[in-house]
Amino acid sequence: MTRSAHLAGIGSFLPSCRVPNAQLAARMDTSDEWIRTRTGIRQRYFAEPGTTTSDLAAEAGARAMKSAGLAEVGAVVLATTTPDRPCPATAPVVAAKLGLAGCPAFDVQAVCTGFVYALATACGLLAMGCVDTVLVIGAETFSTILNPADRATSVIFGDGAGAMVLRSGHTAGNGAVGPFDLGSDGTGRDLITVRAGGAEQRRSGLAPAPGDEYFSMAGREVFRQAVEHMAQSARAVLGHVGWQAGDVDWLACHQANLRILVRLADVLGIPEARVLANIAEVGNTSAASIPLAIDQAYQAGRFKAGDRLLLSAFGGGLTWGSTVLTWPDLTHP
Ligand code: UT7
Repeated sequence: MTRSAHLAGIGSFLPSCRVPNAQLAARMDTSDEWIRTRTGIRQRYFAEPGTTTSDLAAEAGARAMKSAGLAEVGAVVLATTTPDRPCPATAPVVAAKLGLAGCPAFDVQAVCTGFVYALATACGLLAMGCVDTVLVIGAETFSTILNPADRATSVIFGDGAGAMVLRSGHTAGNGAVGPFDLGSDGTGRDLITVRAGGAEQRRSGLAPAPGDEYFSMAGREVFRQAVEHMAQSARAVLGHVGWQAGDVDWLACHQANLRILVRLADVLGIPEARVLANIAEVGNTSAASIPLAIDQAYQAGRFKAGDRLLLSAFGGGLTWGSTVLTWPDLTHP
């Protein structure tokens, strides 16, 4: 019998340091008005000094496990662009912080698409019968890689974490996750990148150029490609599952920019009222953004069992991916 993956629990966590637009405008050449009108963002949260990605991930993971009513899981998959260290992966540290030392744990790096890739990886582990439950986390301390001299990126990104517990099942219906559509185009790697710190720069024998240790993004081109690839990918996954745009109750996309969310909904023919958008309050949290947006909507009581969610993301790599999820009847809110 074909095994499937079901959502069994969800949780999220934001660090306590709230950073309104005005605070950024006080230290760089930008304004609350520019940030709000170009991105939809009003504020974001930055982790306090000493707090790392594994701390945020462990908090969100603990909340998702509590929501699933579980004290243990079979594996931990962490999507992050900002690991605690380049080596080793951060997921084993998260597992240890959760008292899960011994279980398989590894990172997935697909920048803002990371959570969709991590969900697909978890579904694969469940489908192969490797484990019966997987904790899938998206967590970022993006503030650690932002260039304070680059106003174009510093105003967009924030820190946070979101997590889901997936459990193996044998049926479609409420809770079912998948199928997936995933893709990449490495010829676009310079559009979203941290140039220094990897083998390429070390092998060059040259010191990093100023700013190369920070995140950079060619915003306008990324905007165009984000809409194009998310729309194509979302349509592909709708085709796989046999849903029309009108069957989608909630468009749960990567929170890149409010204008991207609105444009994507329009292209797909999904009414704006069905778009999950928390970017105003948390900014773009990269790999954390989809589970964070879904958990906040769940906590606000916006879903009922059987609601159909379409998830889609685009990010560095370039990478993109989409999946669908039918909302479960969660018993441990
Ligand atoms: O999460 C992964 C995927 N990421 C995305 O999908 C993000 C996609 N891109 C975007 O969201 C948008 O392109 C941005 C928000 C990054 C930029 O918005 P934009 O409307 O594309 O602006 P732009 O880059 O075309 O810049 C327009 C103007 C420029 O000035 P000039 O050349 O017209 O005089 C920029 O220098 O806005 C200027 N600018 C700013 N002004 C005030 C850029 N950043 C700022 C700023 N404050 N923070």
